[in-house]
Amino acid sequence: MKVGIDAISFYTSPYYLDLKELAKVRNVDYDKYAIGIGQEKMAVAAPNEDVVTLAAHAAERLRTQVDFSQIDFLIFATETGIDQSKAAGIYVHHLLGLSSHCRVLECKQACYSTTGALQLALSRLKEFPDSKILLVASDIARYPLESPAEPTQGCGAVAMILSTNPRVMSIDRESGYFTQDVMDFWRPNHMREALVDGHQSTKIYLTLLEKTWDQYSEASGRNFLDHDHYCFHLPFSRMADKAHVRLAKSCGVLEPSGGHIEKTKVYARDMGNAYTASLYISLLSLLNLTQKDLQGKRVGFYSYGSGSVAEFFSGVIEKGYRDASFAQEHETMLKKREAISYETYEMYRGFDPYNEEMTAPTDSYFQFVGIEKEKRLYRKEHN
Ligand code: HMG
Repeated sequence: MKVGIDAISFYTSPYYLDLKELAKVRNVDYDKYAIGIGQEKMAVAAPNEDVVTLAAHAAERLRTQVDFSQIDFLIFATETGIDQSKAAGIYVHHLLGLSSHCRVLECKQACYSTTGALQLALSRLKEFPDSKILLVASDIARYPLESPAEPTQGCGAVAMILSTNPRVMSIDRESGYFTQDVMDFWRPNHMREALVDGHQSTKIYLTLLEKTWDQYSEASGRNFLDHDHYCFHLPFSRMADKAHVRLAKSCGVLEPSGGHIEKTKVYARDMGNAYTASLYISLLSLLNLTQKDLQGKRVGFYSYGSGSVAEFFSGVIEKGYRDASFAQEHETMLKKREAISYETYEMYRGFDPYNEEMTAPTDSYFQFVGIEKEKRLYRKEHN
């Protein structure tokens, strides 16, 4: 029985800061951003957006392809938690009008938690093949102003329906996984911005790539050239180049084809790190932007979450992927975005809903409207 992704969509803020603008303000050569880390724009969440509204928008798009009344489990992966107790997914469950007979959970382990949740959900589908699981991953990446990590910020959400007989991708059984207690990136409860040892984090990312690959490759019997494409977790798009070369080299392939990863990096370059959503946005980038038919192609996935847990797994693209991956809608969404000034970027990223009056720059369907008596409030704009 095949299990995997039956429909998939992503969403990002309608606002971005062009990194040319950031380079001017920071007095940095723009090529460091465009070439050195491979980033051109960073998506910036407006005051009336948060991980709930981003996730609800990503999921709402799936409604045209999926009967939402059948969803019996919603898993919300994030590292931009909005409450220590209540799962952000409950707000999404309400905004989408899902059935009350639906479990809701929130998952955390940096950027890895979506993959951990995916694997747990797929095991469940093997026992309950009629189940339909909505997995959403949503984050707003924030680092201190003027830090080396600042140009890698971004925000976005991905939403997937997981089911048996999936239309987009069936996930292979074998995987390799690895955990190591390390302080490469973390965000203490009292801080809005992540702390990171950037160079250490990229080293660990690459070390765990080899360790997870070895276990995956031994379990599956597949080698480097058995995969047509590779999706790597993308904290910045150049990371995929480093990972691709490193993996190829460790497998004895000296000149790997750039075609393995070229299309997977395009969306990330245009929006920045979306933490838990990034790996799956890179899959959408591949599916949406590749002209030739991808049915039957095998993709290798590397998921990395600082702290750290990593996993290597793979999947095969199914024949219905074009109908259930929303290429046109994603293109329109990205084209309609608006560039903001550096000053607006500082204002949006610093907005504090506890102490500042809410402004509502976006007229998006789902909106965060503020906090009253410590309760977060949301609305559907057109209902
Ligand atoms: P940095 O230290 O300022 O950059 O920040 P650098 O000096 O290392 O330069 C970066 C690259 O640009 C270098 O190339 C330079 O040579 C090149 P490389 O050596 O890598 O090949 N460069 C130029 N190229 C062209 N023209 C120029 C120029 N100048 C320099 N003029 C760093 C880089 C990644 C450290 C920083 O952005 C950072 O701290 N980022 C955040 C951490 C991160 O993204 N880590 C990635 C792995 S960990 C991960 O993926 C998990 C994460 O998503 C969190 C989670 O799991 O939740 C982050």
